[in-house]
Amino acid sequence: MATFVQWVHVTAAVFGIGGIAFLLAVLLPSARALGPVERGQLLRAVSSRFRWLSWSVIVLLILSGLYNVRQFYWEVAWGRSWTLLTVKIVLAFAVFAISLALTLPFQALERVRQRREKWLSIALVLGLIVILISAYLRRG
Ligand code: HEM
Repeated sequence: MATFVQWVHVTAAVFGIGGIAFLLAVLLPSARALGPVERGQLLRAVSSRFRWLSWSVIVLLILSGLYNVRQFYWEVAWGRSWTLLTVKIVLAFAVFAISLALTLPFQALERVRQRREKWLSIALVLGLIVILISAYLRRG
């Protein structure tokens, strides 16, 4: 069971952070080759598909992450591992908040969506830090 949940966690992380990297490195730069009307249509279509991917990833990461905390950390005394894990979870929730701000269909979030490249870049950097901390926790 622990192996299966770890697989779910890592796979969701690959889809989530990989999806953000794909948008930033491939899709958004390529969309600049289109005219404004086609670009708008493409971005709306991408956004409604990315919504389901990112929401599924968030649910899977939280459920599998909580299982991992229960399985590997619950009995561990407070110390460096817990501190790093706490930092990781706070950063992970910052990534989730950015993803939600970019995909929830609320008019109030339109200003965030207009600066999507900036927010996606921040989410990518935070996500990479989360993965670095996770790798360190695994080795330590
Ligand atoms: C941006 C979101 C997240 C990413 C990219 C991410 C990524 C990862 C990765 C790559 C691992 C290493 C797995 C392995 O080596 O087998 C891991 C482990 C882990 N994750 Fe996450 N994770 C995220 C969110 C969360 C959340 C929200 C929680 C808790 C609620 C969590 C709890 C854990 C725990 C407890 C481990 C095990 C660490 C260890 O091996 O000591 N993760 N995560």
